[in-house]
Amino acid sequence: MAPAPAPQLSAILREAEAALASASSVQALAELRARFLGKQGSLTRVLRGLRELTATERAAAGQAANRVRDRIEALARERRSALQAEGQSRALSQQRLDVTLPGAAAPRGHLHPVSQVERDMCSFFQTLGYSIEDGPEVETDWNNFGALNFPEDHPARDLQDTFFLEDGHLLRTHTSPVQIRAMCGREPPFRFIVTGRVFRHDLDPTHYPMFHQIEGFCVGPDVSFGDLKGTLHAFARHLFGAEAKLRFRAHYFPFTEPSAEMDVSWEDGWLEWGGCGMIHPNVLRNCGLDPEAQQGFAFGMALDRAAMIRFGIPNIQLLFEGDLRVVEQF
Ligand code: PHE
Repeated sequence: MAPAPAPQLSAILREAEAALASASSVQALAELRARFLGKQGSLTRVLRGLRELTATERAAAGQAANRVRDRIEALARERRSALQAEGQSRALSQQRLDVTLPGAAAPRGHLHPVSQVERDMCSFFQTLGYSIEDGPEVETDWNNFGALNFPEDHPARDLQDTFFLEDGHLLRTHTSPVQIRAMCGREPPFRFIVTGRVFRHDLDPTHYPMFHQIEGFCVGPDVSFGDLKGTLHAFARHLFGAEAKLRFRAHYFPFTEPSAEMDVSWEDGWLEWGGCGMIHPNVLRNCGLDPEAQQGFAFGMALDRAAMIRFGIPNIQLLFEGDLRVVEQF
């Protein structure tokens, strides 16, 4: 005689109700489901036993067992969503995010002092109608020296001063080769401003093997030395203040004639500021221009010096060592 399932079913249901109600995790819930409804589950065993009942008994008992199974399923679902909600609110209260806390600031970069000065100078000359021109740091001997009218035996061509490359190129020693590049094939009038790195064998507190120059030049049918002086005065006043005075000393450059070095008044004295002059007829000719029809002026100076003055930096090496503790101050 097969066991009467009814009392057994309600015992299973009561046991399941109690167990599910106290299940404390989704994991425990899955284990409980297996305990009642799995292959070896107690309800499954009852259902299996139905085989031994008569057809009518089986129908009634089967329905009762199915109701119990549905009930257990439903309880398990309810308990699961209750557990999930609990878990969520626990997580919410424990992992609270304080949106009022200050964030971790991303470190912000800024322009190097030399770049700041360079940009300022370029925009000054742009207001005077100059265009920006650029050239490579590795140059030919012709552009750096030959076309600029340097004699073959000029001391600047010496290994002592110039970094030569094995293939016959060199690291430009000044920005003047950009004059050659800009003037060749160009129809005057034009005026250009050039900034960039230049390289010379030099190292002491005010010299570094690499430094920056700014160079300007202007060519047209009636450009004069007076235009040059006026331009440099305006530039000096822009950089050093409205009171800045300039002093011109006769000098020699192969690529300008006449040539001058200029000093700017600074703190009760004079500061060597750069070179300038009227572009030499040979240079104009080397660029395919007619010196009878066109004249031009050119000037050039280091711009690191201006950065050192503006920011009160005593040693040029500080500018280029890339030490953030230094650079970040400006
Ligand atoms: N190229 C010169 C130098 O490096 C500077 C200069 C430029 C002088 C233009 C005259 C005209 O010293």
